[in-house]
Amino acid sequence: MINQWKDGQSPEDKDIQATLLEGGALPRHIAIIMDGNGRWAMDRNLPRAAGHQQGIESVRDIVKASSQLGIGFLTVYAFSMENWKRPRVEVQILMSLLKTYLLQEIDELHANNVRLQAIGKLNALPKNVQTILNESIEKTAGNTGLTLTLALSYSGRWDIVRAVQMIALDIRRGTLSPEDITDEHFSEYLLTKNMPDPDLMIRTSGEMRLSNFLLWESAYSEMYITERLWPDFRREDLYSALRDYLNRERRFGKTSQQLRESDEKEQQQGSIRRIISSFSSR
Ligand code: FPP
Repeated sequence: MINQWKDGQSPEDKDIQATLLEGGALPRHIAIIMDGNGRWAMDRNLPRAAGHQQGIESVRDIVKASSQLGIGFLTVYAFSMENWKRPRVEVQILMSLLKTYLLQEIDELHANNVRLQAIGKLNALPKNVQTILNESIEKTAGNTGLTLTLALSYSGRWDIVRAVQMIALDIRRGTLSPEDITDEHFSEYLLTKNMPDPDLMIRTSGEMRLSNFLLWESAYSEMYITERLWPDFRREDLYSALRDYLNRERRFGKTSQQLRESDEKEQQQGSIRRIISSFSSR
């Protein structure tokens, strides 16, 4: 029997989620740098692999909670391009965990309307991982709920350089002029082109770095850094991050006063529209 996430929630959890949903606009896109697996294992005198294994439990819970909350996009940094430099055995373990995760989870993700995607230099992954990944992506391609993106063999700088190369090719072919390159147009060349920029970027284990994750896309992301190590991070921690996010003022370079004024202007325009439509419907 496949678990339907909307049925299996405790009443307390439903209450917390309802309060969050009433608290304002939740992020459309959450990005997570899952860090601290090695330290979690070391603290327990366990091999690093045990930390990664436990980290998968956190992935499961956070995917489920995000889907229940109606979050549109969740992107997790599962393997960076720099991670290839780790000891061969650790890389093998991570690849094998990824494969197991996909094999075990894909039916449940699919049954819960999750669309799986991946970004990164995917052809660097072992062939068997590529096959399972592609099958999983294809299977869930038509789903309309949460989009779960795995960043695998990913580097933000690499994606930006790739985009610049493709832009240069288009200019050489004569299909693009340099004057037409805007922020929006540049974004179209990135692997993240079909997603909104992350509104909230979470990093676990207290490190204050972006580590080459979504460098272009995180220009205006709200950062939330917690000391919690990734294998201990569960939905309660996500809720804390969301509460914190709901209390932030996102200014996008403007002043607080400008934001208040544009809010007031929007409210006034809304009232005028309502008055006009009430007249036209008489
Ligand atoms: C960073 O912790 C974590 C990783 C490099 C891998 C993250 C992978 C998982 C959580 C499991 C696989 C993921 C999916 C989506 C199936 P670290 O090893 O750098 O920890 P440390 O800084 O404490 O050493």
